[in-house]
Amino acid sequence: MRAPTPLSLHDLTALTRTYAAEVAAGQHPVQEDPLHRWSRRLVADDVVDVWLISWTTDQIAELHDHAGSLGALTVVRGELVEQRWVAGRGLRSRTLHSGRGASFPLGHVHDVANTRAETAVSVHAYSPPLTAMSYYDVSPAGILRRTRTELTNEPEKAPETLSV
Ligand SMILES: [Fe+2]
Repeated sequence: MRAPTPLSLHDLTALTRTYAAEVAAGQHPVQEDPLHRWSRRLVADDVVDVWLISWTTDQIAELHDHAGSLGALTVVRGELVEQRWVAGRGLRSRTLHSGRGASFPLGHVHDVANTRAETAVSVHAYSPPLTAMSYYDVSPAGILRRTRTELTNEPEKAPETLSV
């Protein structure tokens, strides 16, 4: 099957590492907003979007996929918890410490949250550029259910934070 992008998951992970190093070196200002998660697009072209995101305490995405885009992230500082759906096993949690990353193949369904007091900062890349996200819940019987699909170019979008 032909991939939807010339970039591989490895390429995207490397790209987020490069920009994460620039962010850590102070080349890209980071803001924080406890009410609405702050993000800024660092790269926007026909092939890839790169986003810088800050996560204050209890800011969370929502269980989602990235439609037809591959993706990757690298944590610049702080710590993020990713809950990802694993077929046959359900939701699995992993903690992404500063410097660590994750990649998102097609069909990757996950949620991302900062549960720590310290604000987390991460760099995300999507290729082809993000155009839509579907959202999911898990039924009491442990079945993953798609609840809605939205056209969006905003990454890891969430309607609100846990704390409001
Ligand atoms: Fe995501």
